[in-house]
Amino acid sequence: MKAYILDQYGKGRPLRLADVPDPVAGAGEVLIEIHATALNQLDGKLRDGAFKPIVPYKPPFVLGHDLAGVVVAVGRGVRRFKVGDAVYARPRDLHIGTFAERIAVNEADVAAKPATLSMAEAASIPLVGLTAWQVLVEIAKLKRGQKVLIHAGSGGVGTLAIQIASHLGASVATTASAANADLVRSLGADTVIDYRTQDFSEMLSGYDVVLNSLDGTTLEKSLKVLKPGGKLISISSPPDPAFARAMGLNIVLRLVLRVMSAGIRRKAKRAGVDYSFLWMHADGGQLAELGALIDQGAIRPVIDRTFAFAQLNEAMTYLDSGRAKGKVVVTLPAAATPTTEASA
Ligand SMILES: NC(=O)c1ccc[n+]([C@@H]2O[C@H](COP(=O)([O-])OP(=O)(O)OC[C@H]3O[C@@H](n4cnc5c(N)ncnc54)[C@H](OP(=O)(O)O)[C@@H]3O)[C@@H](O)[C@H]2O)c1
Repeated sequence: MKAYILDQYGKGRPLRLADVPDPVAGAGEVLIEIHATALNQLDGKLRDGAFKPIVPYKPPFVLGHDLAGVVVAVGRGVRRFKVGDAVYARPRDLHIGTFAERIAVNEADVAAKPATLSMAEAASIPLVGLTAWQVLVEIAKLKRGQKVLIHAGSGGVGTLAIQIASHLGASVATTASAANADLVRSLGADTVIDYRTQDFSEMLSGYDVVLNSLDGTTLEKSLKVLKPGGKLISISSPPDPAFARAMGLNIVLRLVLRVMSAGIRRKAKRAGVDYSFLWMHADGGQLAELGALIDQGAIRPVIDRTFAFAQLNEAMTYLDSGRAKGKVVVTLPAAATPTTEASA
């Protein structure tokens, strides 16, 4: 099959389109023919080598974290899916590789594709949708009437987070540029702050939750808008000791992360705020819940641009600009694979 390989870590390094052996569905896995994939900042950061100590992929490997497609084979013990099912997924760390025609994925990471979405739309959801869900539902336990600030509301995570928070009945403020104000309002933002001309930390107060996806300065300023007992949840930096433990990192890395996060943890404690860092995880069950909300019309995908598989490197360059409104999606030819037998 065809796949995009990262041969070596390197900033902005193009991926190489190559012929690689077809994957096989192992026990508990489904083999999926990929119809569409989406790009994430995580792909760029992995390519650049920024996360080598945390998720130690050894080049050459196939990049890519999101997919929508059709099950073409099932491995031993698979119960929830059968050949022909339309699905979407974010394969778990160290088992990624959706910039390819096919991939074998643990069935626990997979959910039925929302019926109301095209393959391209469905591929835009998993990584960012799960991230927003895990911040707002799993960690923040956001409730009706609470106030949440979502930074970078026009980005991949932000466009989903605004909709989830709004669906949960929270009052939503977001930072976005003026050009994206209508977009974020249409997704459910009640208060829109133009980050280029206004200072959110002077305008907001008494918030219950902040989702930070921006830099350290924004993170620190976010403390000012939270009320005592509020939650500051960062997905950009800095990782905290709980994350280091959960990832099973070695003692040196644990120490490094403890030191890196010491400043914000100290300031948060002083403000009576709970600081945590989230590294999202694959979860087919949560994807099914998101799918139900999508099919009910509570959440919609936001796609900035769609590229053909042959243009995946151009798509990566576009993602690197950091200006995408919602998601950058890549569609595949998805040649029919007439496999009907279990392959493991
Ligand atoms: N820890 C995790 O598990 C996890 C998961 C997902 C994402 N992340 C991280 O979260 C960050 C965001 O991811 P993403 O996929 O949402 O990124 P993205 O889609 O590439 O974000 C682009 C958007 O951010 C907006 N933006 C840029 N600078 C801004 C600022 N200073 N204030 C407000 N908006 C700003 C841009 O709007 P303008 O063009 O108007 O500037 C653009 O619409 C990345 O660093 C990513 O690596 C972490």
